[in-house]
Amino acid sequence: MKIAMIGTGYVGLVTGTCFAEFGHHIICVDKLEDKITTLKQGKIPIYEPGLDVMVAKNAAEGRLQFTTDLAEAVPDADAVFIAVGTPTSRRGDGYADLTYIYAAAQELAEHLENYTVIVDKSTVPVGTARQVSRIIKETNPEADFDVASNPEFLREGAAIADFMRPDRVVIGVESERSEQVLREIYQPLYLRDTPIVSTSIETAELTKYAANAFLAVKISFINEIASICEAVGANVVDLAKGIGMDRRIGSKFLHPGPGYGGSCFPKDTLALMRLVQEYGESLRIIEAAVEVNAAQKARMVKKIRDALGGSEAGKTIAVLGLTFKPETDDMRDAPALTILPALLEKGASLRVHDPKGMEEAKNFLPNGVEYVDDAYTVCQGADAVVLMTEWNQYRALDLERLKASMKELIFIDLRNVYEPASLTGLGFKYVGVGRK
Ligand code: UGA
Repeated sequence: MKIAMIGTGYVGLVTGTCFAEFGHHIICVDKLEDKITTLKQGKIPIYEPGLDVMVAKNAAEGRLQFTTDLAEAVPDADAVFIAVGTPTSRRGDGYADLTYIYAAAQELAEHLENYTVIVDKSTVPVGTARQVSRIIKETNPEADFDVASNPEFLREGAAIADFMRPDRVVIGVESERSEQVLREIYQPLYLRDTPIVSTSIETAELTKYAANAFLAVKISFINEIASICEAVGANVVDLAKGIGMDRRIGSKFLHPGPGYGGSCFPKDTLALMRLVQEYGESLRIIEAAVEVNAAQKARMVKKIRDALGGSEAGKTIAVLGLTFKPETDDMRDAPALTILPALLEKGASLRVHDPKGMEEAKNFLPNGVEYVDDAYTVCQGADAVVLMTEWNQYRALDLERLKASMKELIFIDLRNVYEPASLTGLGFKYVGVGRK
């Protein structure tokens, strides 16, 4: 199959590269010349484990190309995937900004020659594919095409594995012909017994939001239960095992922490609530999950303050991890961006380390934060260590070494990575989330 991938952001680049790995011929298009030049040189603008090797391999084997010119990619394509950004609107009203989607639809329309399936890969509100269809028809009344929706369920940091071994693929289609094209594109997964769920276009669009909203609810649920565990002296880690082993509940996404972040859950829960409002309805469970998430970040500030004896003023806090999750350099909506400024404001000195996210973090965090290149150096002389993101390199720290270099022995583990006894046994005060 020949595929044009419009947008070489996270989703477009991963999806295009994995399609090439399946054996399809992919041309990735982006307006940003610098980005395309970089990609042509074999350099990857984001950090995603394994992606650089896969891009290089498929480019070398001639199945993956990059261009700024739609005319090179669209006319021959069996399918054109739209994978441009849908950020929260700058109006601040929570709606997804669809400007890039509609611009892409208009621009690609002029280049359509043969029957083509136009696939929305970006996360978009219900009705977007229909609007894309209208725009294409208006721009090029002769065009022979169908629109489809094919939401992505990739987690940053594990995107290639998620793409290659998904739980399911959802395709929203309006004709048998377009379904056939999409089934053929995903044939390699079908051969691995991946279920393909074929739905209407609207259902596929909503499925994506419902999936992310459900996962956000699950995280906020366990974060609230963690607070109750702290109040009654129970242990949320054991509790999560106790409920998660019930297959009706499932053990995944039951890890309490500083609140969910990233480019998806915060944005998609808001966009879904706005969409539902337009229909005169509300989603109270999702509203609650969003509120709980904001409260969770505030609770983490208080947790750190309490651990420091009631005030962070004048204290030096070492922070391990800044990104919203490990294995990414993405700082979008990372809990650190709420928690750290609150501590700074109250007079704490912050020294921070992250294996991949420090350059990005500098764009978001206020001045006055000290960036340190090494996980041990950052802890030297600190009154407390806060483990914010569970990078593997923080999972087996040499605690004796930490003890020898810190001023006060306070370890605040916002991801419950450590067994409390492994720290308390060395004289540390240990503070986790939802457990003593
Ligand atoms: C999420 C979904 O998991 C993907 O299926 C979806 O495709 C993607 O959004 C998207 O819409 O593009 P992602 O944001 O990359 O993926 O990362 P997750 O692994 O889902 O983590 C999101 C946030 O939830 C992180 O801040 C993480 O630390 C937090 N989290 C996750 C918890 O606090 N507890 C958990 O048990 C799981």
